[in-house]
Formats: sequence, structure tokens, C-alpha cells
Amino acid sequence: MRVLESERIILKPVEPADLPFLLEQRWDADLTEYIIHNPISSHSQQQWYEKICRNGDMALCVFYKDPNTNNATLVGTTGLYDINQRHQRATWKTLRMAKEYQGMGLSYEASEMLMDYGFRTLNLNKITCDVFPENLSVVRLLERLGFQQEGRLQQHYFHQGAFKDVVIYSLLREAFHSKNGSQK
Ligand SMILES: CC(C)(COP(=O)(O)OP(=O)(O)OC[C@H]1O[C@@H](n2cnc3c(N)ncnc32)[C@H](O)[C@@H]1OP(=O)(O)O)[C@@H](O)C(=O)NCCC(=O)NCCS
Repeated sequence: MRVLESERIILKPVEPADLPFLLEQRWDADLTEYIIHNPISSHSQQQWYEKICRNGDMALCVFYKDPNTNNATLVGTTGLYDINQRHQRATWKTLRMAKEYQGMGLSYEASEMLMDYGFRTLNLNKITCDVFPENLSVVRLLERLGFQQEGRLQQHYFHQGAFKDVVIYSLLREAFHSKNGSQK
């Protein structure tokens, strides 16, 4: 996959040149309140990049196209991971949007593009996502996209000094197609 594009968004695989932006986002305490990771250096970021390339994960950068200038600015990330061909499923991870671009519907639109690519091109049957139930902006986004709750894993993660529950959401291909029109 080279590029997915709409009127105001470009989704493009992460390249080495994008890693400093990703690192800044992973250092941002507001963006990572609900994300679990150890302190990250540029070296560990590079190792992460090599791992996703080896695994065939689809880590994507979200670019916003300015309607006046048509310049594309890197504003966030998203991606499909652990893509399992046999069972036709993948996990959606790394949804992050720069603060100054939040509330514009960009994440929703980028997510719709990603789901469309996952179901129609990768031929996935199911996309899952786990989220802390307190992460309300993500919960609302998932529900608007048609994701259904599958279950709640109690005290599943130790995060910021406490054991936290996590909720598993999924979107099935059939639900995606009935929401977005028949299969092309
Ligand atoms: C979750 C996150 C990616 C959402 O990003 P965002 O770009 O602000 O999302 P959107 O703009 O698509 O939606 C946000 C709100 O804007 C509204 N909105 C504004 N303009 C809109 C438009 N043109 N179209 C659709 N929605 C629009 C949405 O309805 C939504 O409202 P809500 O919060 O009341 O549900 C962002 O908050 C983030 O980066 N969070 C931190 C990282 C994180 O926790 N990631 C998840 C790990 S599981």
C-alpha cells in the first residue's frame, strides 16, 4: 500500500523520516494518558520501526491537506497490526491525533478510510481494538464507526499506579458493509 487519499486526508505507511514526529507524540503526556509504554528513546523507536517492518504491520501516518494551500502536514498516526491472513483479522492500534488538529473529524475520517481498506482490500473479516473505558473520545469514535463491545477484561493492565480494566471492541465486515453500503 502506497497511499490512501481523500479530499483532506492522506494515509501513508510510516517511513524513517516520520519517526521523529512519532517519537514526539509518544513523549506527549496528554496524548499518551491512556497508552501504555515504557520510556522511549530514538533508538527504541528505531527498533519498533524495524519490528513492524519485519511483522508486516501496517503502521500509517495521517497527513492533513490544507484546503487553501493543499500542503500536507503530518498530524497523526493509525494502523492495523497483527494482520492474520488465515483468520482474516487484525488489531487497530496507534490512533493518535496532534492536539491542534483534534475536533475536526480527521480521526473519524481517517478511521473510516482505514476500515474501508481493511475490509475491502485486505479482505479482513474482523478488526478489533482495545481501549480503556475512561478514554471516552476513543469509545465515542469506535461506537460512531459501528464497533461493538465484545467484553471487558478486569484489571488487565497496570497503568499509572493502578490495575485498569480494558474493553475489547470489534467491527465485523458484515456490520461495516451494512453501515457503509454493499460490498464493492
Ligand atoms: C482519540 C483521538 C485520536 C480523537 O481525535 P480527533 O481527531 O479529535 O477525533 P475527531 O475529530 O474525529 O472526533 C472528535 C470530536 O470532534 C467531532 N467533530 C468535529 N468536527 C467533525 C467532523 N467534521 N466530522 C466528524 N466529527 C467531527 C466529533 O463528533 C467528535 O465529537 P465527540 O468527542 O463529542 O465524540 C484523539 O483524542 C487522541 O489522539 N487521543 C489520544 C490518543 C489515544 O488515547 N489514542 C487511543 C489509544 S486506544
